[in-house]
Amino acid sequence: MAVTWTSGYNIDEAYPFVEGKMKGEESPRRTPAGTLTYTRRHLCGKPANAEGYRDPGFIHTAFLKDLWPNREYSYQIGHELPDGTVVRGKPSTFRAPPFPGQDSLQRVVVFGDMGLGQRDGTNELAGFQPGAQVTTDRLIQDLPNYDAVFHIGDLSYANGFLAQWDQFTAQIEPIASRVPYMVASGNHERTYHDTGGFYTGNDSRGECGVPAETYFYVPAENRGKFWYAADHGMFRFCVGDTEHDWRPGSEQHAFLERCFASADRKHQPWLVFAAHRPLGYSSNDYYAAEGSFAEPMGRALQGLWQKHRVDLAVYGHVHNYERTCPVYENTCMDGGKDDKGSYSGTMGGTVHVVAGTGGAKLRDYSAGPWPQWSVARDKSFGYVKLTASDHSSLRVEFIHSADGAAHDAFNISRDYKDVLACTVDSCAPHSMAS
Ligand SMILES: [Fe+2]
Repeated sequence: MAVTWTSGYNIDEAYPFVEGKMKGEESPRRTPAGTLTYTRRHLCGKPANAEGYRDPGFIHTAFLKDLWPNREYSYQIGHELPDGTVVRGKPSTFRAPPFPGQDSLQRVVVFGDMGLGQRDGTNELAGFQPGAQVTTDRLIQDLPNYDAVFHIGDLSYANGFLAQWDQFTAQIEPIASRVPYMVASGNHERTYHDTGGFYTGNDSRGECGVPAETYFYVPAENRGKFWYAADHGMFRFCVGDTEHDWRPGSEQHAFLERCFASADRKHQPWLVFAAHRPLGYSSNDYYAAEGSFAEPMGRALQGLWQKHRVDLAVYGHVHNYERTCPVYENTCMDGGKDDKGSYSGTMGGTVHVVAGTGGAKLRDYSAGPWPQWSVARDKSFGYVKLTASDHSSLRVEFIHSADGAAHDAFNISRDYKDVLACTVDSCAPHSMAS
């Protein structure tokens, strides 16, 4: 478990640490924390390195290891000053994650595009994230009913005004101090022209990924390239970085193949791809105009999803909710628009879900014909919740932030032999002829 916080103490001013203990244990164990920061010179352009700049202080991260699966721990962040004085933060608790492959109730929340909210409406400079506070409040209320969060890009919408990162991290603190708060990189975190990203433009308003990559620990080999694998019990998440090249031959494509291929499906049956921009299917106006797979070469991943039987792909960026049938090359492989949301047996194709519904202004769907693969749409603030009750049953729900109820849901029932079985284009052709 990684614990991250911000302080005004540099490494030569105090020793940062986390004290943690399992419920029932007598004395806490102290784990040292590292210290990172960034300065104006690390940022790429305006306003982040100009009128939007604010000294971020120091960002500390400690890694609590050798935790007992599912056990509850209490912890406190702290600093030891040179004169021996110890200052501590407020106490909090978390439940240690399940052991990879372990069979127990496991629930993970996924959404994108939340941003900042203020209850009194102050500081809503652009009025762009009207649902942020509603979703945050719902997630706080729902805390007993999920174990981890994936916020898949467009996190704070600080857009180069760096004090807003402090406001955002304060907003999510009641959640992120209790459950793992995993993130993906979105255009508002990373994209800045001529910095090695896939897109041109200045969506990050000069941040070029620096604040997000410093505030949030993810188990990437290189946080500057924000793709990683994360295991949570029966889930394997392969998180992509849509702001860097993902086409065949790219470093990221090779990683995704490795991530999918190395999932131990006997023990980790639920294989999920998550990334910021919809690389699969969305009937948002822009994507509908371009046809599915509109992001350049998004189609490049279709073969990987099929070959490795990826159950589910979740995206943000488009501010509405939409889910597809199990789809491959624009064709429903199992069910269709009239299905009742229950899929079983051999996998036909990946179900794609758009959930850029965290709080940023909601968007319309195309007024054009409803594509066969688009099974459900809902223009509401909310988040997706994945519930694995065992190795054979996965339930996916779209929870509204307003009422906490599931307004769309589907189930996948699949045994190990169904994962091993060949489906369209998933196995290399072979012959027994000699
Ligand atoms: Fe975005």
